[in-house]
Amino acid sequence: MTDSRSPAIWALIPAAGVGRRMGAGRPKQFLMLGAHTVLAHTLGIFLEHPAIQGVVLVLGPEVDPDAVELPMAGGRLFRVAGGAERADSVRNGLDFLAARCDAADWVLVHDAARPCLPREDLDHLIATLRHDPLGGLLAAPSTDTMKLADAAGRVEQTLDRARVWRALTPQMFRLQALRSALAAAAEAGMPITDEASAMEWHGQRPRLIEGSPMNIKITRPEDLETARLYLTMQNRLRNPI
Ligand code: CTP
Ligand code: MG
Repeated sequence: MTDSRSPAIWALIPAAGVGRRMGAGRPKQFLMLGAHTVLAHTLGIFLEHPAIQGVVLVLGPEVDPDAVELPMAGGRLFRVAGGAERADSVRNGLDFLAARCDAADWVLVHDAARPCLPREDLDHLIATLRHDPLGGLLAAPSTDTMKLADAAGRVEQTLDRARVWRALTPQMFRLQALRSALAAAAEAGMPITDEASAMEWHGQRPRLIEGSPMNIKITRPEDLETARLYLTMQNRLRNPI
């Protein structure tokens, strides 16, 4: 699916979680933000981006795909079934791509629960990494002083704030390299909560690309209000998708 000069860029959106911490009547990616669901806002960012070849959407088994509001996709949206943990869902999406794409193609893994990703951050991530051998992730430098706790809940150490970052998504890696790293981590029983940690565990050093703190992961009920505010600030709350 690619020409020989530049690898294609794919988006992979894990959306198979149940949203336990949100505690709503349905998974948080199906809650409304203005005129659209959280998931539709997230998908819209990637589907309207000219550099993205296609979007793999990973959905939970209990979801009726016909009941999901999906933006106009023009054949660029592919649905895959999710797994027990986020990393399993991502691996299912990567398996789907591996059967169709080149090993060196890029995959941008982005949480369905992060609908406020600014377009500029996506552009910046792609432009910075597309000639990088490994890849990397959006991240936000820490503004607070960070403490490392001991088992008793006391401060063991104050970390150097200048070196502490919060990992965001998208995380952008080569298809086959990411697939191997996640498989090796799963084989070793490593708990993996983001793609970069699998790459690190495989001995690599992903690049940190500074992104906006607006790119929150909707996790608890109060985050919905914050997401509404951030989408309004980006003029995206009521946009047609
Ligand atoms: N996710 C997934 N498959 C899973 C678990 C999570 O695709 N088995 C997705 C979620 O849908 C979400 C992203 O991974 O878009 C980040 O996960 P998280 O914020 O933890 O979402 P949930 O697991 O749904 O929430 P909670 O942990 O509160 O249950
Ligand atoms: Mg979770």
